[in-house]
Amino acid sequence: MWTATTVEELRRLRASTPGSVALVPTMGALHAGHVSLFEAARADGHAVMVSIFVNPTQFGPNEDFDRYPRPLEQDLAACRHAGVTGVFRPTVDEIYPPGQLECLVTVPVLADILEGAHRPGHFAGVCRVVAKLFNLVQPDVAYFGQKDYQQLRIIEAMTQDLAMPVRIVGRPTVREPQGLAMSSRNAYLTAEQRRQALAIYRSLGKAKNLVEADRERDPSVVESAMQWVLRENGLQVDYAVVRDARALAPLQRIEPRGLDVVALVAARVGNVRLIDNMVLKPPMNT
Ligand code: PAJ
Repeated sequence: MWTATTVEELRRLRASTPGSVALVPTMGALHAGHVSLFEAARADGHAVMVSIFVNPTQFGPNEDFDRYPRPLEQDLAACRHAGVTGVFRPTVDEIYPPGQLECLVTVPVLADILEGAHRPGHFAGVCRVVAKLFNLVQPDVAYFGQKDYQQLRIIEAMTQDLAMPVRIVGRPTVREPQGLAMSSRNAYLTAEQRRQALAIYRSLGKAKNLVEADRERDPSVVESAMQWVLRENGLQVDYAVVRDARALAPLQRIEPRGLDVVALVAARVGNVRLIDNMVLKPPMNT
């Protein structure tokens, strides 16, 4: 497995890699969710390139950029173990050379709602770094997790609208046995907070049950039920909503027209902010 820290090294190593190349962009602190993306890319027959870069432009001024975990040796071992071909782990100055004028790519319809409303500028930072990584690595395909559902939709929209020659593959969320979605930020949780955080998965299960088994059609009923589960367990709710699965627009009614809907949650346990989601399939025969 090669590692590159500079753009020059990366371009040279990329040029000497034959066959189709998959990129998996990450911020490191790798866990089984990330590894599932490496393994899927490998199983699909690609040489797998992983970027490890804690991207400052997607963090707000009061967010956790400084304390974001950076266990580099462990991360490299995880990549090696998963059969990754190469790791690109640039410095901040390598990606954002001082004095370079910033260019912004954005998908306003998707980027200003939900996560974007709570984290202004977040998705502009994500799009900027992902577009840049695509230009540097020039992958045939890139793998992303559905765990960050809004991010996945934004990347799909960006590559489609700007005709970027990269196919986007979305992969299912990997969870801990009791349902907590794997996240690098779970490392911040105490044992008690970890137990509380399970309410996020339970609130999504509640939404799924209401929509798929009880055939509830009123989004506000489902949203109230989700919020109740979260608040009852002491979580602070940023949002707990049911949206259309493509544009993430609010729904008048949950209609079984074969269109998927998605339940999305962002909630805080103490100082730790967690997100999760679940796609719901309203039954057709009512
Ligand atoms: P990061 O949070 O490190 O996630 C990297 C990739 O792993 C993303 O596509 C994310 O959706 C996926 N992932 C995270 N947890 C997962 C889980 N439990 N199951 C499946 N996939 C999971 O997302 C980012 O980094 C950054 O925003 C990035 C795209 C790298 C741009 O900086």
